[in-house]
Amino acid sequence: MVLSSSQLKNQLDPRLPTPLYYQLQKIIQKSIDEGLLQPGEKLPSERELAKTYDINRLTVRQATNALVNKGVLVRKRGLGTFVAQAKLNQGLFHLTSFTEDMISRGLKPATLLLSFSMEAPEPQVQEELNLHPGEKIYLIERLRLASQEPMAREISFLPFSLFPGMEKKDLEHGSLYNLLRKKFNLTLGRARETLEAVAAEKTEADLLGISPGTPVFLRERLTHTEQGEPFEFVRSFYRADRYKFFFYLER
Ligand code: GLP
Repeated sequence: MVLSSSQLKNQLDPRLPTPLYYQLQKIIQKSIDEGLLQPGEKLPSERELAKTYDINRLTVRQATNALVNKGVLVRKRGLGTFVAQAKLNQGLFHLTSFTEDMISRGLKPATLLLSFSMEAPEPQVQEELNLHPGEKIYLIERLRLASQEPMAREISFLPFSLFPGMEKKDLEHGSLYNLLRKKFNLTLGRARETLEAVAAEKTEADLLGISPGTPVFLRERLTHTEQGEPFEFVRSFYRADRYKFFFYLER
């Protein structure tokens, strides 16, 4: 077993100012980062780890709890503690599509069209998209998958007037942005996004394969064409156990 191997033995140093639980947490994290422990692999038991590192079980628990809270490890009742799937680390700097994001990571994007309809917009959508009273929108709801794993649920609202003749079959599989580019000659410009945490409701949780009430990231995007016209308002619900977003800040 990797963590009880001789090279990792006795790496905890009680003379250091860093608490022992944190030293162990770092060792486990490093083993995962370096691929010594793979996603899905079971961690040695608390008892084994306590013995290997000559510390008490509470210290082991503190280290594993911290990693469970970060989503690096998962506990399965009655089975033990396992290495979680690595999160997708996504920088929010460029206006990209789900399809492009997945391909750039070597994952295979897939889409399940959950609904496609023409509707009267809700007030927020009407305001964001600058719609005239009475103007209709397309409501497109999709489940987005990466290499067959559900990652996000997306509800997109697009003004009917900009994309007349859009059909359900156009959206059954591929990329919305590709469709808008090819069929409607649209060139993407810029977007404004917000990011917040919300609790997944039952239907959404079932689709994403998570428990109801689990936090998900809600990203709302208002997208403009190159000419500055808003053409899309989207609510994307990303699994928080599979995504980590990052930004750069300068001053
Ligand atoms: C991302 C964005 C959505 C956007 C979508 C388009 O997922 N969060 O706002 O609508 O990309 O992706 P695609 O062109 O793959 O359908």
